[in-house]
Amino acid sequence: MKIVVIGSGAREHAIVKSLRRFGDREIVVIPGNAGIAREARCVPAQPSLADAALAEKPDLVVVGPEQPLADGFADRMAAEKVPCFGPVAAAARIEASKAFAKEIMLAAGVPTAEAAVFDDPAAARAYATDRGACVVKLDGLAAGKGVIVADDAAQAAQAVEELWRPGTKLLIEERLQGREISIIAICDGKSVLPLPPARDHKRLRDHDQGPNTGGMGAVCPPSDATAELIETTVKTVLEPTVRELAERGTPFVGALYAGLMLTPKGPRVLEFNCRLGDPEAQAILIKLRSDPLPLFLAATNGRIQGQKPVWDERTAVAVVLAAHGYPGPPRALDPIEIEVEESDDLWVLHAGTRIDDGKLVTSGGRVLTIAALGAGPEQARARAYAAAAQVRFAGMQSRSDIAAAEG
Ligand code: AMP
Ligand code: GLY
Repeated sequence: MKIVVIGSGAREHAIVKSLRRFGDREIVVIPGNAGIAREARCVPAQPSLADAALAEKPDLVVVGPEQPLADGFADRMAAEKVPCFGPVAAAARIEASKAFAKEIMLAAGVPTAEAAVFDDPAAARAYATDRGACVVKLDGLAAGKGVIVADDAAQAAQAVEELWRPGTKLLIEERLQGREISIIAICDGKSVLPLPPARDHKRLRDHDQGPNTGGMGAVCPPSDATAELIETTVKTVLEPTVRELAERGTPFVGALYAGLMLTPKGPRVLEFNCRLGDPEAQAILIKLRSDPLPLFLAATNGRIQGQKPVWDERTAVAVVLAAHGYPGPPRALDPIEIEVEESDDLWVLHAGTRIDDGKLVTSGGRVLTIAALGAGPEQARARAYAAAAQVRFAGMQSRSDIAAAEG
């Protein structure tokens, strides 16, 4: 069995680690990073990502990030009859276009924030100013930078100015209140298998201050993730969405990520992603005690329903260590020292790392994720932060309150 994993982040490192726990299999990662290269063969995306993947003649391809999916990577794999975990471009639009996601939710009756879509900035400005407190979103992939939460009319108008780009659309949404949670399901085009819920911490600094980032840390499961919440989300969000996409002739195969706000009226969808979350995947996968391979394969052949993954009962906490400058342009080439003793319960996952002149150095915004298991959120947190203290590089940024609010 030969598996190709696409991506270069800590999420993909976690996928590789969880696959390597079980059985004899060849894993190739395109393009990977310095940490992944210690555990799997990494090859560059040359002459293109899809060509590099096909050249390996894999039995399965697992795609980590959204961009290749939005660009039609899975369509190319389908044309070449290579099983691919990750949706075709028409289904990946659920992440790539927020306007499309709203259209699907409206058609499928999925609970979400009310929204209006504009392709004219003057109309958007007038509507936003009228609403006051609202959320302005750019339609399209923006790596977490296309959303502004406005408190009043002046901020709303300013947000329209900041986000507007000729030729795109803006969404203006009702501003919801509540805690956020990510519920991700493995989908085979017809059915869904929910993974344990996770909570990301998106702002750069403690107490949810500072700019939005791709995610600074995660906990799995959060203390308010009840079985009832999962059941409600499966029935009212994930299943109707997958059904709607199938009815449109573009069945969703891969990981469907619902970013939810827990409002007094129940969960409401803020966004969909067409992939595993980063850093959610790091916290989810360290808890997986059975082989992920049957899950990936079952998603590609319509058999997810019979799957029974085994989860560690403990809590996982993932802490991201980011480079100087992140989420703006990160500084590269800072030497990294890691003295952590890894185990099955404690992972050091690489993202923006590479080898320069024989030394491990920073080469991206999010540099590493430390993922740890503990009896509860407090213990998992303590273990993750104790390990993070054994990592050093100049300008390192991390939050000190990941999972602190889980009680
Ligand atoms: P998104 O990329 O759509 O998930 O938005 C990024 C972040 O903006 C979310 O994680 C929320 O913190 C915030 N946000 C998005 N939509 C809303 C909304 N309708 N009400 C309040 N906050 C929101
Ligand atoms: N952690 C949020 C995301 O992966 O988009």
